[in-house]
Amino acid sequence: MTVMDRFRLDGKVAVVTGASSGLGVAFARGLAEAGADVVLGARRAEKLAETVAMVEGLGRRALAVTTDVASQPDCQALVDAAMEDFGRVDVLVNNAGIGTAVPATKETPEQFTQVIDVNLNGCYWMAQACGKVMQPGSSIVNISSVIGLTTAELPQAAYSASKAGLIGLTRDLAQQWGTRKGIRVNAIAPGFFASEMTDQYKDGYLDRMSERIPMGRIGDPEELTAALVFMASDAGGYLTGQTVPVDGGLTIT
Ligand SMILES: NC(=O)c1ccc[n+]([C@@H]2O[C@H](COP(=O)([O-])OP(=O)(O)OC[C@H]3O[C@@H](n4cnc5c(N)ncnc54)[C@H](OP(=O)(O)O)[C@@H]3O)[C@@H](O)[C@H]2O)c1
Repeated sequence: MTVMDRFRLDGKVAVVTGASSGLGVAFARGLAEAGADVVLGARRAEKLAETVAMVEGLGRRALAVTTDVASQPDCQALVDAAMEDFGRVDVLVNNAGIGTAVPATKETPEQFTQVIDVNLNGCYWMAQACGKVMQPGSSIVNISSVIGLTTAELPQAAYSASKAGLIGLTRDLAQQWGTRKGIRVNAIAPGFFASEMTDQYKDGYLDRMSERIPMGRIGDPEELTAALVFMASDAGGYLTGQTVPVDGGLTIT
């Protein structure tokens, strides 16, 4: 086996949440390019259908399941559908997420809870459902954020707490499932990448952030996808419990 063979995912099945826009679409593409069939979850069925068509255009199989990750039964149903259609789940990418920026004295309990429900609890429901069926050699990749590690001007208590919580969840599942199940669990902490989420920022914000980033620019989703495929595949076979910032150096500033 060559070193490049270790990055291949031929014959594997990957579940990607939040695959209807932004980074989730890039992840689905990268996993399919590496050889995996993909099972896609998000709330917008019509957008998921576009991702299915893209994956099928690459010659891989794809299944879309309308999913609200804040609902534990929805998460279980997504994994059940993957098992029914493909008979296995080798990779889980916990990518679905929402971003908010609300000053702490104004944030309502509902606003705070919604972010935790989607960004943190949803990842746990997905990991639990996958952890029951994954075979040794499988891999979970949680999409955290640099905002789980540092701050970036905006008032983001809920988002920051959810993404920092996800880093803790990553560590704990890695230690629970390493020896016992042979499942690796890691996280990526992305810096800034263009998506529907970053489209919501006010004019000038990303330019200001870029001045803080040692590489002087926001990232290209393909740069994130390369890190994902490393973690998801045997190339990352001795990596577990880790959170890797892919952020152009932002978190060293
Ligand atoms: N872009 C960045 O710079 C950046 C940086 C750090 C971390 N991240 C993280 O990367 C992930 C992807 O974000 P993105 O930038 O690609 O944003 P995006 O384009 O807004 O994508 C978010 C995805 O999550 C899905 N989603 C939201 N709520 C959901 C729910 N309740 N159930 C199921 N799916 C749900 C959305 O699909 P539906 O609306 O169809 O449900 C969408 O596919 C997020 O976890 C985000 O926090 C992004």
